[in-house]
Amino acid sequence: MMRRPLVAGNWKLNGSRAQTTDLVAASMRLADQHDEIECVVCPPNVYLQQAVDQATGSRLEVGAQDASDHEAGAFTGEVSAGMLGDVGCSYVIVGHSERRERHAEDDVLVAAKFAATVRAGLAPILCIGESLADRDDGRAADVVAGQLRAVVDMVGATGFGAGVVAYEPVWAIGTGRSADADAAQEIHALIRRVLAETDHALAERTRIVYGGSVKVGNAAELFSRPDIDGALVGGASLDAEQFTAIGRAAGARAHPE
Ligand code: PGA
Repeated sequence: MMRRPLVAGNWKLNGSRAQTTDLVAASMRLADQHDEIECVVCPPNVYLQQAVDQATGSRLEVGAQDASDHEAGAFTGEVSAGMLGDVGCSYVIVGHSERRERHAEDDVLVAAKFAATVRAGLAPILCIGESLADRDDGRAADVVAGQLRAVVDMVGATGFGAGVVAYEPVWAIGTGRSADADAAQEIHALIRRVLAETDHALAERTRIVYGGSVKVGNAAELFSRPDIDGALVGGASLDAEQFTAIGRAAGARAHPE
């Protein structure tokens, strides 16, 4: 089965109105010139509406970096997936390691956010990945499988919706030290096997993207592996040229020679 490659830019706590205008314009060109891939930008919440308005009429999709597990109520500072859908977003990153670490998000909360996102009709991008200590202890596969099962066991195959899995080894995020393609492929294959435990069709259709120091120099090699269906790009997504080149490399995966 050919899954449509997905390249998503996670801007994190970066950007401005002016930078949003520039990056969205470049990403629109990428998305419109490469309909073999799906291209998503995830700016900070305050710039989402601006990004959606600018991207209207193009193939570029807009996503948020987080959403509440609640739909509405007394939750100061939170934004619901329904609200994100209301302003035109189609994706939500859930369970990013920076939120797991800095905001004490555990597997149960991440699963609830995932479920709330699907209920609102949006596609979650579920981030999972081991720490350096986990990897050194030989527990990478167990940790990743456990983080994924926490979500799949809660939502089931139908509740998984159009969810995407992002394998992001924590030690590779923002460090310049990407997992090598074979090591990443090994974990991606494991992720697909875990999905298949619940539903074979789910495993076949779900896109599993890699994140962690993806750059122009390593993207094509990563995308050449059978279970690496694209990338969640942090730092390099703030550079229009880099992000565009990574998107093109994902396009080459869709149409191999
Ligand atoms: P990075 O971040 O590309 O800067 O390593 C990836 C991510 O955190 O999603």
